Amino acid sequence: MPRARKATRASRRSPARRSSATRHAHARENGHGTNALSLLVEQHHETRRLFRELAEAEGEERRELFLRLADELAAHTTLEERLLYPTIAQIEGMAAVARDALEEHLIVKRLLADMLEKDLEDEVFDAKCRVLEVEVTRHFEEEESGLLPRLAHALGRERLRELGGEMEQEFEELMRHEPRSRVPRETDSAPLIT
Ligand SMILES: [Fe+2]
Ligand SMILES: [Fe+2]
Repeated sequence: MPRARKATRASRRSPARRSSATRHAHARENGHGTNALSLLVEQHHETRRLFRELAEAEGEERRELFLRLADELAAHTTLEERLLYPTIAQIEGMAAVARDALEEHLIVKRLLADMLEKDLEDEVFDAKCRVLEVEVTRHFEEEESGLLPRLAHALGRERLRELGGEMEQEFEELMRHEPRSRVPRETDSAPLIT
């Protein structure tokens, strides 16, 4: 079915090239600034979409998608470690949740670091990619159902918007410098919350 496949690829291509600035514009709320919650959930959606596309892609397109996924995940985890989890840890009863999330990020980074060293045609790469998707999906679900609603409740709308603005700037800055390149140096242990 070459025709159908071609159409699917064409429809995949344009959103894959949306800039993070464009995506984050969707996370803004009618000119009231970026909400930290919608920004992070939008990044989760983008990562899930990249996993779906990667599963179907081949050749150079597959390589481009994987590198994009690695950059998105690297920037997202660093962003959360710098700006989200320290805030979460200060909410009463949430310090252990923040520590758990950091350990889950460490699992993600170790898998990513392994994958960055592998040939994409290696079947071990596929196995690691499937495990990474399961881990990342579960981690996102936990954040979206537990940690992020608690953050919203604790911070309130105004502070949530301020934090969203800080996060947006941090993410854009991280994405300018191939954030995947820092992942192999961050696989020894999870960062401490300061
Ligand atoms: Fe996270
Ligand atoms: Fe997240």
